Amino acid sequence: MPHRRKRDLIIKGFSKLLKEDKLKIVADLMDNQLETIELLKSFWYADTEKQKIFDEFSENTITNFYIPYGIAPNVVVNGRTYLVPMVIEESSVVAAASSAARFWSERGGFHAKVKNTVKIGQVHFQWAGNKQKFVQAFDELRKQFRENTQSITANMEKRGGGILDFQLVDMRDKLENYYQINVSFETMDSMGANFINSCLEETAKTLQEFVKGYPAFEGKEKKVVIIMSILSNYTPDCLVKVWVECPFKDLENIDPSLTGEEFARKFETAVKIAEIDTFRATTHNKGIFNGIDAVAIATGNDFRAIEAAGHTYAARTGHYQSLSHVEIKNGKFKYWIELPLALGTVGGLTSLHPLAKHSLEMLGKPSAKELMMIVAALGMANNFAAVRSLVTKGIQQGHMKMHLMNILNHFKATEGEKDKAVAYFSSHKVSFAEVGEFIKNLRHS
Ligand code: MEV
Repeated sequence: MPHRRKRDLIIKGFSKLLKEDKLKIVADLMDNQLETIELLKSFWYADTEKQKIFDEFSENTITNFYIPYGIAPNVVVNGRTYLVPMVIEESSVVAAASSAARFWSERGGFHAKVKNTVKIGQVHFQWAGNKQKFVQAFDELRKQFRENTQSITANMEKRGGGILDFQLVDMRDKLENYYQINVSFETMDSMGANFINSCLEETAKTLQEFVKGYPAFEGKEKKVVIIMSILSNYTPDCLVKVWVECPFKDLENIDPSLTGEEFARKFETAVKIAEIDTFRATTHNKGIFNGIDAVAIATGNDFRAIEAAGHTYAARTGHYQSLSHVEIKNGKFKYWIELPLALGTVGGLTSLHPLAKHSLEMLGKPSAKELMMIVAALGMANNFAAVRSLVTKGIQQGHMKMHLMNILNHFKATEGEKDKAVAYFSSHKVSFAEVGEFIKNLRHS
């Protein structure tokens, strides 16, 4: 029996080891070292150049973790039809998005508009001095901020973006001597995180130098404590709205037991519940992010930043609620979603990840604004599909049908067994136990 590495061993310098050695350390924890190494290596790209790209995205990469890359066709946004790439492991999400996209494509498609694209960064600092003096000095300070960030902003300005403004915010009622410099940015087609953070760190340095040398400041006023300089992932002014509308008659036949109007009213009530009740709102919005995250990942965007902003926006009134809304007026069903989406179509992973690059090409190389509208439309498609199922046949029927393959794979079903199971379960309720029983019986006979 080979010597097994202890699980609680602290490993020094792991990042400096060769990839093969890292693999061995990981395999040492397992019962089957050789099989483990074989498994992890089986997910490497045969093309070593390609693998190197993935190795270098992150630290301590030992293999790749695959997630399906699917397509939602027939997504019509502002009259243009897209094939939208979605990267997601949950079996029913692409099917749900595709079905909703097709449904709305026959009813005028998704309408969308970007309301604003401003992003925010903050320098958080403490300063114990006479606020009035600081306010008086601020115009001069703002000029120096502009001058000193010029080398960083020059390229962005050529593209039409840059720093919009610097604002002093007094936060002393919340924390002793606490102020912020709030900096607003336009980052055009890039998400802009690195650009924003570089500008902020330069701004903090300028602030530090300024207070030291400003003639009107004396004693402790000559010292500022910079706490931190960082972008805010909350981007309430980088906002997109997507909506659909149709007369009740276009909602006939969604469910045999509901008229178009009854469906519209039931759907509206379900959305209202997500406006009132936080428990429901969280799941409702999770369904929206099923679509949003999947396109964000497929296009190389930071889905954690997007989720953080979306959930904060959902709680902006102090009460977490639905990101989508419904209005019924004059015999018409109007349904919309509005949320912040800080996306990029240049920089970051967008051109480095071969599939992110492909996704953007497939979408026709959209600007960040166009991508905001597409991504929000997919959030809405998934929300519509989920709520439509919930208020009619329930979610499990479709969900479990899509999950059937996962259950069959769990039982290591052969292709022949899968065909028989798919045929049988097209008219029977899918559950883990039922599928297990079905396979057992099949194997016995
Ligand atoms: C499942 O991933 C998402 C849903 O729960 C969303 C919803 O309930 O609205 C179906």
